[in-house]
Amino acid sequence: MGIDVLLGLQWGDEGKGKIVDFMAPRYQVVARFQGGPNAGHTLEFEGIKHVLHQIPSGIFRRDIKNVIGNGVVLDPVIFRKEVEALEKYNLGIRENLFVSKKAQLIIPSHRLLDAASEQSKGESKIGSTLKGIGPTYQDKVARQGLRVGDVLSVNFEEKYRNLVQKHVASLDHYGYTNYDLASLEKDFFDALEFLKSFQLVDSEYQINQFISEGQSVLAEGAQGSLLDIDFGSYPFVTSSNTMTAGACTGLGVAPRHIGEVFGIFKAYCTRVGGGPFPTELINEVGEKLRRIGREFGATTGRPRRCGWLDLPALKYAIMIDGATQLIMMKADVLNSFDTIRVCTHYRLPDGQITENLPFDFLETQVEPVYKEFKGWETDITYASSFEQLPPELLEYIEFLETQTGLPITIISTGPDRIATILKEAVVK
Ligand code: GDP
Ligand code: IMO
Ligand code: MG
Repeated sequence: MGIDVLLGLQWGDEGKGKIVDFMAPRYQVVARFQGGPNAGHTLEFEGIKHVLHQIPSGIFRRDIKNVIGNGVVLDPVIFRKEVEALEKYNLGIRENLFVSKKAQLIIPSHRLLDAASEQSKGESKIGSTLKGIGPTYQDKVARQGLRVGDVLSVNFEEKYRNLVQKHVASLDHYGYTNYDLASLEKDFFDALEFLKSFQLVDSEYQINQFISEGQSVLAEGAQGSLLDIDFGSYPFVTSSNTMTAGACTGLGVAPRHIGEVFGIFKAYCTRVGGGPFPTELINEVGEKLRRIGREFGATTGRPRRCGWLDLPALKYAIMIDGATQLIMMKADVLNSFDTIRVCTHYRLPDGQITENLPFDFLETQVEPVYKEFKGWETDITYASSFEQLPPELLEYIEFLETQTGLPITIISTGPDRIATILKEAVVK
């Protein structure tokens, strides 16, 4: 056994948390490899909804291990809140959760810098979740970040002060002065003590050991491929590699160990924050998608922008990720639509039709070319097999399979764990 990867093929919020939780019993380990508390992964079962930000979505399955890998940026204050919210479920978190010593620490001034940077951008702000993600990855690349393992060092406080000094100088430079760092630091240092009571490990050794023992690992992506730092709609992206390759660097696993790559997408499209979105519907259809799909951010509560499925973008994500199977989410949201549209191509400003994403969507304004499908206008929530799905939906699925060259092996028909239909064995 090796490592399978599950990741978002769009702009995040595809439903990764739900499916990782659903698939977790087929694995011995679930591991997060990038991102941090900008993620909001929703799981629903037994009438309760949980939103996880940094803790892997395998945590509710008591007999599997969960790893926060080196590629993650970890906010100890949010970590503590998440763990405390889960304590009443007696999940054995202290035994089942491992945190990489090489994960980068988000410190309070990273969050302030995120806010200052966004404020300085005015109209062209990225729409960051303001969790300090960008500044923390910046420090990592600048080779001056603090890592989880540093908290065990005797001179951690000194390292911390050195970094904060640099941050305060940057905040001054932005003219960002309205903050109370001392009170944020109190929570931060308390949370560090809490973090120290967890298993802080060299997770690259641990995961490779799991793999060599024949255990199976599921790597859980955060954000989506179109937010990837290299291949997303730059600069409106997050600061990590959200693509499959990120699982290798974010866990210390060689590419040859990667098995299946599950690419997950919504039957339509959403995006939260700024940046290009060719199929966005700024009209009553978009509002209907938002209302029925409850498209509000799991981390920030912001309304998500909604639009039709964008096939060129989906194919691009499948290409860079090397997806081997597809998972389609939220088909039920389209239950009451009489017509469903899919963007199959883009029309460039000079009239040319293309399937390729332009270098810069803002400089090259594209117009989506749509194919129309008849809606199924039936409630699919209670379907429990592909055979029970309406013919119009099966036609939609078949079209996407033909276009992408990949099988859609799971269809999700509702937020609950049980509203999940499998087509064929998903794990070989
Ligand atoms: P993630 O970040 O990829 O884990 O996704 P989010 O949790 O941010 O957003 C997905 C939202 O859709 C959550 O509110 C889920 O409860 C919900 N959801 C997931 N799958 C389905 C589905 O098949 N149908 C409906 N209606 N909602 C779903
Ligand atoms: P999950 O894992 C959707 C978006 C933000 C912003 C941009 C940069 O739940 O799918 P950042 O805080 O990373 O600097 O923000 O990326 N973004 C997400 N959008 N789902 C997410 O995570 C996201 N994480 C970040 O809205 O546009
Ligand atoms: Mg989310």
